[in-house]
Amino acid sequence: MAQEDVFKKLVAHCKEYGYVFPSSEIYDGLSAVYDYGQYGVELKNNIKKYWWDSMVLMNENIVGLDSAIFMHPTIWKASGHVDAFNDPLIDNKDSKKRYRADVLIEEHLAKFEEKISKEIGKARERFGEAFDENKFRETNPRVLATQQKIDELNERFNRAMNASDLAELKQIIIDNEIVCPVSGTRNWTDVRQFNLMFATEIGSASDGAGKVYLRPETAQGIFVNFLNVQKTGRMKLPFGIAQIGKAFRNEIVARQFIFRMREFEQMEMQFFVQPGTELEWFRHWKEIRMKWHQSLGFGEENYRFHDHVKLAHYANAATDIEFRFPFGFKEVEGIHSRTDYDLKQHQEYSGKKMQYFDPEKGVSYVPYVIETSIGVDRMFLQIISAAYTEEELKKDDGSSDTRVLMRLPSVLAPVKLAVMPLVKKDGLPEIAEKIVKDLRFLFNCQYDDKDSIGRRYRRQDAIGTPYCITIDHQTIEDNTVTIRYRDSMEQERVEISRLTDIISEKVSISSLLKKL
Ligand code: GAP
Repeated sequence: MAQEDVFKKLVAHCKEYGYVFPSSEIYDGLSAVYDYGQYGVELKNNIKKYWWDSMVLMNENIVGLDSAIFMHPTIWKASGHVDAFNDPLIDNKDSKKRYRADVLIEEHLAKFEEKISKEIGKARERFGEAFDENKFRETNPRVLATQQKIDELNERFNRAMNASDLAELKQIIIDNEIVCPVSGTRNWTDVRQFNLMFATEIGSASDGAGKVYLRPETAQGIFVNFLNVQKTGRMKLPFGIAQIGKAFRNEIVARQFIFRMREFEQMEMQFFVQPGTELEWFRHWKEIRMKWHQSLGFGEENYRFHDHVKLAHYANAATDIEFRFPFGFKEVEGIHSRTDYDLKQHQEYSGKKMQYFDPEKGVSYVPYVIETSIGVDRMFLQIISAAYTEEELKKDDGSSDTRVLMRLPSVLAPVKLAVMPLVKKDGLPEIAEKIVKDLRFLFNCQYDDKDSIGRRYRRQDAIGTPYCITIDHQTIEDNTVTIRYRDSMEQERVEISRLTDIISEKVSISSLLKKL
């Protein structure tokens, strides 16, 4: 099945099984805004807990913060967001559709990449085992010609973006004959900058209403509280401040489900270090964060770093952790060495010192910062797109059936176990209810006695419940139940008294944290 179709099915599955709903659906929805349903919110909370524990619980020198969404408007002037947090947008005069000029060019580049992938795929089929991809890339004339086009376009594009040269961005679109995906025409307006921050007003007009912004990142709340936390927590460098919270961006191109939203959540950690040690810490956090992603078991080959060659003016190193989504490798997390830029800007704009007194050196200085920044929703999408599986099952009569399941890591699964009496009589429901009553203090459990046992298993597979406990007539005789494993569908007979230990071991966050 084409990856595009798999993705459409995943989106439909999320809605059907209470993971993600379009926002305001009864009013026809609100573009790029989503609500998390009964299972979605549990998965999201588990992701957040895993991130939080890996930062705050596992590191003595990292503490948490929960700063407000509204902040003094000068913060966004100091951070550069008022002047420079822009996307270049362009309209097609025929379709009246609005696009991000950089995204149109990136998509054009992706088509060239796709062309190369197809050539490689065909050659691999032709040469089989003996195929050497690197050699093929270096020698095949068609691949070389396409690669040259990519390199030339990339260079021109990067130059235009770095110089914020809007006329050149339009010229690139025209020279490359990029058409509007809706009208198919090249009737473009000029490119202009569009600020991504949402603004509103605080207080009533008579109070002297002031313009405030909905924060576009949580990081600035950490920077402006740097000294509050350092002093009250008696923190010594190096130390970190972690925060999880909502962020808002008026994205022009909001597509691919929850990948790019207008209201989303971030998990950010700013790690304050001595100037001169920042690149060492940057490498450290790169490694730690990659391990965190890979600990979930979705395959190392599905992750890669994308080191930034062109750096923002405030950074001296930056990388993205990318995951192979159904629509290609895309950024999930950014790790940035932000120098002392943010603290210095706040020092200048607020007139307050943002310095750390180093007791060992006997001097004060503005620390450097390594930032790790990951979107909760994008992480959620990473997990569900890796977990969504359609499995062909052969039946005894030779026909086949499709089983849809979410292979979620047990630690993150919204429901850990479902408890099911085989039949609704003979005292079996009472035993099942007692098991749920005892285990619900420890795990998110469901009691389910509707429909055949096969249908109940399928329902739990679709939710991603890793363990189903079935109570049958043998349970009455020997206090044993069957535990059925979602991924293998294997069943094992165990004593009721062992359930807590068996399941605790598999679903505790500490088992993941120990891998880090
Ligand atoms: N403080 C740094 C910062 O905000 P960013 O690369 O703009 O950096 C960090 O965002 C992460 O936030 C991204 O890697 C992504 O996971 C997530 N993110 C950014 N914009 C998003 C959006 N519109 N919708 C969902 N997630 C988003």
